[in-house]
Amino acid sequence: MALSSQTTALAQIPRVHIFPTAGEAADAVAEHLLATVKRNPKSVLGLATGQTPRHVYAKLVHAFREGKISFCDVETFNLDEYCGLTASHPDSFAAFMQRELFGLADFDPRKTNLINGDVQDVVAEARRYATRLKESGAVDVQLLGLGTNGHIGFNEPGSASDSHVRVVDLADETLSANQPSLIELTSVPERAITIGIADILHAREIVMLATGSAKAGAVRRSLREAPSTDCPASFLGTHHAVHWYLDNAAAAEIG
Ligand code: F6R
Repeated sequence: MALSSQTTALAQIPRVHIFPTAGEAADAVAEHLLATVKRNPKSVLGLATGQTPRHVYAKLVHAFREGKISFCDVETFNLDEYCGLTASHPDSFAAFMQRELFGLADFDPRKTNLINGDVQDVVAEARRYATRLKESGAVDVQLLGLGTNGHIGFNEPGSASDSHVRVVDLADETLSANQPSLIELTSVPERAITIGIADILHAREIVMLATGSAKAGAVRRSLREAPSTDCPASFLGTHHAVHWYLDNAAAAEIG
């Protein structure tokens, strides 16, 4: 994969790509995903929500509008969803995906797999999603963002490396971090369904995008400390093909 000329490869940490700005890091992630889909139009992508991937999705939409790519054969799996929200609720991750990506390009709705947060039986919904994930074989590229507490998906500190799709309680730090992103709700839902750490590690390739100084501590712990449930993203170190895309601010503490 061609990386931008501003990339700094840390010799002692393979596959860590550092860019001067968040925009450039996101551009490189978009290029990574576009190259994946060009190589295999039937790729299975694992997708994240949150502020960090918004610029990535804008670049994918731009490439589609310019006629450079089609996503019609791509299958997607989102990482997580808040419990209690319908897909049309503006604060649901389903609505986010529609606004930022799916509704702006030629994704086939039959191939965009989302967790339904608006169900009575959340355990059954987690089971349904786990089955769908299993049926797909393996995700080709899993895109991740990073929680300030080191979470990946909604696998909060304490999550085991062999965890699978399940219902979780969100950490206080996550509730505070996500509060400013709310559109209609006044407080962040306290429960969610997330794919597990084992599910994330099952992907053929993992692309982590972390930008901004608020992520610097979690980036350092993930890359510099031994894998531990205290920092779920540290388990990424056990995967054979993880790419970290960082801006200078997020990379500031890995020295
Ligand atoms: C989102 C998700 C979370 C976010 C993380 C970072 O689907 O699973 O792990 O990736 O909380 O969120 P932002 O990008 O808003 O800082």
